[in-house]
Amino acid sequence: MALAREQFGSKLGFILAAVGSAVGLGNIWRFSYVAGESGGAAFLLIYILCIFLIGLPVLLAEFSIGRRGQSDVVGAFNKTAPGTPWVIAGVLGVLTSFIILSFYGVIAGWVMYFMTAFLTGQASGVEEGGFADFFTGFIGGSIGPVFWQVLFMAIVILIVFFGVKKGIEFSNKIFMPLLAVILIMLAGFSLTLDGAGEGLAFLFSPDWNAFTNPEVYASAVGQAFFTLSLGMGAMITYASYLSKEARLPSAAGSVVTMDTLFAIIAGIVIFPAVFTFSSIEPDAGPALIFIVLPEVFNQMGGAGTLFAIFFFFLVAVAALSSAVSLLEVSVSYVMRQMNWTRHKATLAAGIAVTLLGIPSALSQGGPFTFTIGGFSFLDFMDVITDRITLPLGGFIIALFVGWGWNKIDALRETGLTDSVVGTLWIWMLRIVAPIGILWILIQNIIGLFFT
Ligand code: PFF
Repeated sequence: MALAREQFGSKLGFILAAVGSAVGLGNIWRFSYVAGESGGAAFLLIYILCIFLIGLPVLLAEFSIGRRGQSDVVGAFNKTAPGTPWVIAGVLGVLTSFIILSFYGVIAGWVMYFMTAFLTGQASGVEEGGFADFFTGFIGGSIGPVFWQVLFMAIVILIVFFGVKKGIEFSNKIFMPLLAVILIMLAGFSLTLDGAGEGLAFLFSPDWNAFTNPEVYASAVGQAFFTLSLGMGAMITYASYLSKEARLPSAAGSVVTMDTLFAIIAGIVIFPAVFTFSSIEPDAGPALIFIVLPEVFNQMGGAGTLFAIFFFFLVAVAALSSAVSLLEVSVSYVMRQMNWTRHKATLAAGIAVTLLGIPSALSQGGPFTFTIGGFSFLDFMDVITDRITLPLGGFIIALFVGWGWNKIDALRETGLTDSVVGTLWIWMLRIVAPIGILWILIQNIIGLFFT
């Protein structure tokens, strides 16, 4: 007889863990460069719309599947819809989370390296305009990127090793308040910079032309999925550890609100800094936080170094709590499937995903520098998950709860039976979310294979 399923100690513990999963590289590294490339404020508005029209309903759908299923992501589909093909979403979830974690660990490793480089003074010695070389020099190496990736993954594995309550819940109860404090402190400092007005205008006063650009919508839906950890079973897995008493809609509302606030405040930290030095542009792409920001930090002098250390620490911790949720998807699956203990499953899945990350770590100039369809190994892993399997997973989940699952069960699990909100939720999942996701999926496929 298997042991009783692990559980979070409290609803707050669950919410913090879910916020920990949601708040990550996506809110800082990815949000800032995507917003920077897509025109700032217009993107922000569309993004918020996507979060509430698509993200929130799908998040609540994942919470209800997880809690009803009381199992890992594959098991949850098998329990809620036995013998049906909906379980494909579960299988896709395990694969996607595994692949994402492989390269997520590499980027988080870069973040840890940057934090250390500012701590030791090495980064502060970089000359003006020198961070592009500093960054490409580091990621193009062999030992460096792998060392930091493995170190990061070792911490992730350690936390998951301790289990739901003592590892995941405990760490998030410390990390989340800590992140909030550091983020608000940094935002306060950013607002005192000369570029604050211009940075805020970039973030909050929209360029209306951007609303007619379909690419902005596609980026916004993609970002909404990634940032809320949707479409790959992380939220399904976490919700399976939640007690029956906790109310799901308020939990989903809190997670979405905190995640969105976190991204907006991260924007308030980053854009004033970027605009303080006019030679620098906000649309630098993925290298924004690794090349542009360090440049800015160094131009600020002593306060800039401190800012840099706190900033990269913040990003590293945010990445850590997200990576933990990614690993838990596989661990919980392996535990049930192989009937292994948590310790054994964590080590096996953790080591396997770390090994899979090594080619990504070595793909930026190291021995794995080759391209697949024009992408480096790391970018390839990113692109297939982010543009294809993630939205596909979300699409199936929305359809499952909207059409496939017994509507009464779905509403009962969320406590929304016979309510206007419940009806609205089901129809969002039936129509709005699938159409929105399908549209971006088609765009992504055309963009990838036919242009
Ligand atoms: N939501 C995380 C972020 O914004 O960085 C990334 C992520 C974590 C995606 C966990 C998916 C996931 F299952």
